[in-house]
Amino acid sequence: MSNIIQAIRGTYDLFGEEYLKQKEIIRLSEEVLKRFGYKGIETPIFENLSVFAKNLGETTDIVNKEMYTFQDRNGDWLCLRPEGTASVARAILNHHMIQQQNPLKLYYYGPMFRYERPQKGRYRQFYQLGIECLGLFDPLIDAETIIAGYQLLEALNIKDWVLEINTLGDAEDRKKFRDLLTKYFQNHSSKLSKESQDRLEKNPMRILDSKEEQDQEIIQNAPKIFDVLSDESKSFFDKVLDILKTNMDPAKINVNERLVRGLDYYCHTAFEFKVLSLGAQNAVLGGGRYDGLLSQMGGPVIPAVGWGMGVDRLALSYQMQQQENRPIAIIPINQSLQDIAFEIAIQLRDHGITVDLEYSGNMSKRLKKAQKNNAAYALMFGEDELKSQLYSLKELDSGHQQTLKMDDIIRLLKAQTTCSNE
Ligand code: HAM
Repeated sequence: MSNIIQAIRGTYDLFGEEYLKQKEIIRLSEEVLKRFGYKGIETPIFENLSVFAKNLGETTDIVNKEMYTFQDRNGDWLCLRPEGTASVARAILNHHMIQQQNPLKLYYYGPMFRYERPQKGRYRQFYQLGIECLGLFDPLIDAETIIAGYQLLEALNIKDWVLEINTLGDAEDRKKFRDLLTKYFQNHSSKLSKESQDRLEKNPMRILDSKEEQDQEIIQNAPKIFDVLSDESKSFFDKVLDILKTNMDPAKINVNERLVRGLDYYCHTAFEFKVLSLGAQNAVLGGGRYDGLLSQMGGPVIPAVGWGMGVDRLALSYQMQQQENRPIAIIPINQSLQDIAFEIAIQLRDHGITVDLEYSGNMSKRLKKAQKNNAAYALMFGEDELKSQLYSLKELDSGHQQTLKMDDIIRLLKAQTTCSNE
């Protein structure tokens, strides 16, 4: 056993109940997002390194320590995408999508890759479902984006969430904030961690995101963005908060002035939904406004806001609401009728019915297998049934058995399938 190749650390195989759970989360999420006018987009899972390296922030952990970068056979530097926003922004610019639609509302779903230390809820390949809304600078849009996230959690019946929200102001506010922070941290630099001392040179705001124990007290007393926020930025944020408070439970909305998020492209609104029962990795959905990203990538100035949701993380607290369609098992009285059983299975599937064909063993073995596979019914037949065209249909939970024509069986099973999908 020991020399069987194992999956890469921080990755996992998705199958069985967990597979169904994640697909169900995606299905329900898509339903909600379509109500908000979002349309799907898929971008490649690998990109030119430059899509991310500069645009996510050169001093962020993601760019510094977590990207899977490699050179292809042509010598080009590529990377597995660590997130979706920069990829979607690239696609929007490549296809001039903004000129065709404003606002442009896109959602995506797929694997992302970060070389992080694996633990419960944190993986090296994880799945994100994200939305991006581009073209409008309006607090209504920020609020609508956040409400879409909230409605999605509600649709998934997740109740123990809280929203942490902050503003990062506009470019001018951040410049002032940066100067203020630089002065403050310079005064405490000897007590900062080595990593934060490095950040002080390049990007002092990143120190606020430090997880190092020795930095925490200094961070706690650091100046706040609210000290420098312009009136316009403040009233933008107040408007976002007002709308959220009228549409969501205000007791679950916390303004967290320390929230900076792990990516540098944010301005104004930044937020995270946390699910309290999840433990250390409890941020299930995070995002914010990023008005500078598309111009930084060589495009026009396009205001934008969005979020990403960790599907695998969310799945840890999601209880499946829907039962899978239970199959019907086709069971011939003996092996010589197997070909006919096969034909019946094809016929029923053609009518949209889920069918399990039990391929081997005597009748009682096949019935046991059907029960193990969670079949709802067994359709049983022998030579006599074929002659009379009346088949035995056994309801496996109750043991109730009836004799029916094939047309009636199809009608009955189709009615059941429609009910269980409602
Ligand atoms: P992010 O906060 O880096 O933002 O990731 C969004 C979500 O992805 C997190 O809240 C978390 O649920 C999940 N996530 C992140 N890393 C991992 C991991 N290693 N394992 C499992 N789940 C993880 C972004 O990526 C931005 N692109 C979001 C955004 C979209 N901002 C604007 N538009």
